Formats: sequence, C-alpha cells, structure tokens
Amino acid sequence: MSQGHDWEKLSTETKVVAAGRPAKKPDGALNPSIALNSTFHEGGPVGYGRYGNEVWSALEDSISLLESGKTLIFSSGMGAISAVFSLLPEGAVIVAAENGYQGTTTMLKKLHEAKRLDVRFVNLPDTDSVLEALPGAQMLYLESPTNPAIEVVDLPVVIAAGKKAGCLVVVDNTLATPMIQNPLALGADVSLHSVTKYLSGHSDILLGCTVTKSESILEKLEQARRYGGAIAGPFEAWIALRGLRTFALRMQRSQENAMELAKRLEKDPRVLRVRYPGLPSDPFHLRAKSFMRGFGAMISFEVKAEVAQIDKMCNSSKLITNATSLGGVESIWERRRRWATESHTIPENLIRFSVGIENVDDLWADIQASFSAANIK
Ligand SMILES: Cc1ncc(COP(=O)(O)O)c(C=O)c1O
Repeated sequence: MSQGHDWEKLSTETKVVAAGRPAKKPDGALNPSIALNSTFHEGGPVGYGRYGNEVWSALEDSISLLESGKTLIFSSGMGAISAVFSLLPEGAVIVAAENGYQGTTTMLKKLHEAKRLDVRFVNLPDTDSVLEALPGAQMLYLESPTNPAIEVVDLPVVIAAGKKAGCLVVVDNTLATPMIQNPLALGADVSLHSVTKYLSGHSDILLGCTVTKSESILEKLEQARRYGGAIAGPFEAWIALRGLRTFALRMQRSQENAMELAKRLEKDPRVLRVRYPGLPSDPFHLRAKSFMRGFGAMISFEVKAEVAQIDKMCNSSKLITNATSLGGVESIWERRRRWATESHTIPENLIRFSVGIENVDDLWADIQASFSAANIK
C-alpha cells in the first residue's frame, strides 16, 4: 500500500487523506469498494469473509500509519479489548484501572469473579500504586486520559516499568487519539481504540482496533478475531474510513473548542471543578505537557447543584445531546453516575462533555441556557 508515498515524511493530516486508496489505474476508483461477500473463490490470500476483505485492509493500513504498527479491525472497541484479554492464560494477573472506562472495568470484574483473570485494580494516575502492583503481573492495561475522570497517567514511566516487570503493556488510546500520543512509540506492546469514537467521528457506527509492532502478538490477535468472530462488517469499515479522512481536522477543531469551553467553565461560579489537562490549573497539566502533543477534546466538570437539577440541565440542552458516547462531530454530554456500572470514585455531580466541532459561542450559549433551564444559579 505504499502508493509511491514516503509515508514517514507525511503528517497525520496528509496520511488520513492519502492512505487506504486502491492502486492507481485508468478509470480505477479512488476509494475501496464495499465487498458484500462472505465467500471467495478458492486459491486467494483471503479465503473467507471472516478472515479479511479489501475495505478492512484499507482502514487497517490507514490506522497503521497513524500509530506506526500493524492494525486489526474488530466489531467494536469492546471486541478489540476482549481479544486482548483472551491472550492471557487462565488465572493470569492483570493490573488495570479501578475507574477507567466502565465497560472495561465491568468486563474485568466479571473475569475476576469467574477466576478467569486475577485483576489488581489500581488508581492508574497514581504512579506509585501502579508500580507496587506490578510484581508477578502478566499484563498492564492502561487508559489515558482516563474516562470519565480525565486524569492523565504517566505513560512513559508506567509503560517502562510494566515492560521491566515482564508485562504485556496495552494502552486504550481512544480519548487521546494518535494525534496526541502514540503508546507504541512510548514502548507499549498494543495500542487499542474504540474506532466508534474520534477515528470514525460521526456517531454512526461501532468498530474497534488493535495496533502492535510485534508480529507474534499480531498473529495471536488475528487468531482471536478469526475464531472469536468479533469481525467488522465491510459497510462499517467503509464508513469509518470515510470518517477518518477528516479525523485531523475534526480533532483540531474539537480540541480548540474544548480548550475555550474549559476556560469559560472554570470561571463560572456554578461549576465546582473543571477537569481538562489543558488548563494550567489542572493537576495533570504538567504531566500532560511532558509527553502529549495536545490535550484532547474531553472535558469533565462538576456542577454545584442537586443531581436532579444536573439531569435536568443535561436534558435541557438544544445543541449538546444528552447521550452516552464521545468523539463525534456533535457535542455530547451526560451525568456519568446515571449508570449503575460507573465507578463510585466518580462524583455524582460530574458531567462528561465530549466537545464537538460546532461554533464555540453557540455551544457556550447552549450551556448557559441549560444552566438556566435547570434553575442552577
Ligand atoms: C475509552 C473507551 N474504550 C473502549 C470503549 C468501548 O468501545 P465500543 O463502544 O466501540 O465497544 C469505549 C466506549 O465508550 C471507551 O470510551
């Protein structure tokens, strides 16, 4: 898939536009075709619809360029995460977040209860607690910034410690995205994404991916996908590739909006605390600056009001959608503790806010109107 480009020299903005294109030929298409086939004639390199197809390869090649590794697409972020956990033998020790993405912590709790894995839950942003938990572990599973606390983990330090302790080190890079950090370049074995979020970016499809530089890990994950069956539909993969073309632009704009809204929220007397590593007042600002190339577009903020009022506020917005998910062009928020599975370390009054690409003043006006509608003064 070189297409004659010297990919190393191209920037992310250019890679997402140029990558994953079919070979140039007269009247050849610019985009891969959606091959709706389960079955292929014998003798070729693919063999069957569960093993691969043209659109997966185009999307995988494109993400591979952003993360400098080899990518496998899965049916969802959780499909990719399950495949990663399936690499561990029965009873293996894994160090993971006590308050990371609730889907992952819920799955880990279930695997722990079933004695499939022995999970040591730690507060990932607290480096010492990670280091203490490492001896005897086979996997260090990281997420940074954490979802929804928006706390930054000291990735260079804990990845190096995890490798030294003999762990397979995995990083969920969904919130930061490859625009902002590349876990493989920091020494991690696997970087994974919910492609559902920023990489595809339009709140329309679910997909996930793993990226690794290791041929042996790639092979094991490919086997996990092939026989676990968590495969992407060709249509979803095509939509994700289309969304990826504007990933850099979307991310840039969302991030600018997030920075501006975080500053305005911080000054608002109805807000107790804003969690955004781009704010100099944020406890994770200096850590984020030390290895990240930006601060992302996820803000969490705590509101000085009763839970019912905060729920009303989230429901009153006209531009910002009250929903669970993130990373789309449209702004989305929700009070996270409305979910029974959310960690109890997350405050009841915390709103997670995925900032989209709308006009920032329109968003601010919507936030103000939502405060008023809920009678929050
Ligand atoms: C950080 C993170 N990782 C993984 C997932 C799971 O991804 P999916 O919903 O695509 O299965 C999510 C979903 O919200 C997430 O926020």
